[in-house]
Amino acid sequence: MHGLFTIEGFGRHVPDRVLTNAELETMVDTSDDWITSRTGIKERRIVAPGETSSDLAAKAASNALLSAGREAADLSHIFYATFTPDAFCPPASCILQEKLGIRGRACVDMNAACSGFLYAIEAARGTLALRPGSTVLVTAAEVTTSRTNWADRATCVLFGDGAGAIVVSDREPKPGQAVIEDVVLKADGSLWPLLTVKGGGSGWPMKLGDTIKDEFFIEMNGPEVYKNAVRSMGSVCEEIVEKNGLVMDDIDLFIPHQANLRIIEAVGKRLKFSGNRVMVTVDRYGNTSAASVAIALADAVAEGRVKPGARVLLTVFGGGFTWGAALLKFV
Ligand code: ACO
Repeated sequence: MHGLFTIEGFGRHVPDRVLTNAELETMVDTSDDWITSRTGIKERRIVAPGETSSDLAAKAASNALLSAGREAADLSHIFYATFTPDAFCPPASCILQEKLGIRGRACVDMNAACSGFLYAIEAARGTLALRPGSTVLVTAAEVTTSRTNWADRATCVLFGDGAGAIVVSDREPKPGQAVIEDVVLKADGSLWPLLTVKGGGSGWPMKLGDTIKDEFFIEMNGPEVYKNAVRSMGSVCEEIVEKNGLVMDDIDLFIPHQANLRIIEAVGKRLKFSGNRVMVTVDRYGNTSAASVAIALADAVAEGRVKPGARVLLTVFGGGFTWGAALLKFV
């Protein structure tokens, strides 16, 4: 064993249906100009009726397995980051396992809101340290539109649906694969009221016949989320880079959480990343929560944005608040 773990393959899937800003103009009192200038989002993907989080995850997972040259049968664990599972029970990871045509593997859903992908990667690293020879599917898949209040213009323009996946193992990395050099995770539970999806949880139970209230959907204090996102992603990136004896100039590609172009630019400015060193997908997918960095990573690989030897810095931020960063080195 080489001491570091390998991402063998990358995949993603977004639904076919495109929801443009022009279409949103017909749904709520908003404009393409407002959405573009405040968020950088031009369009987002939304699921077809009946299409679920695990449907998206299954396609992303198949793409990741294909890219790794692996079969679903090779997997020992499925770690699935989401705040929009198909159901509260069973875990979406179990439904995904069935869709992948395998049985008997360990499956768990993880909810760290938009930061879930990096939390699931860290869980994969822990599993591999404890159980050498494991092969872990880490996926992040969201149908954010299942918790979008289409009457609330302040939130409904921001989100989209999609899934990303990676295959993580302790095999020696091959060309095109990446080593996970480090992960740093953080949370501050005192700030939880600033970004919530409460309705249906045990703190906000529903009983038969209740009408759905606003609290069933995503609610947030936009300016506070914005400030904390910039501050937290900036500081955790500085921490992980310093901890690994690097400087920002050593980073070839920066892949931040894709919530909002202004947040991405503000973090980029603090860390001195700009231009083609920053991966941006928020314009075409909106904020896909936990899936956002997973999708952006797969797109970066597919678009040839990471060359052999490239070092990539990922960072995430979400409800909780939760946040984190990861360093990858491509082979
Ligand atoms: N269209 C038109 N007007 C709107 C819209 C809209 N879609 N949404 C809000 N407005 C109005 C508000 O009603 C308000 O009007 P008022 O002043 O008359 O009350 C006004 O726009 C607010 O404007 P600004 O203060 O300029 O808005 P701001 O610059 O704060 O931008 C935004 C709002 C985009 C939500 C910003 O606060 C933000 O980016 N926050 C981060 C939130 C985020 O990205 N969350 C994602 C989820 S969290 C995560 O993934 C980490």
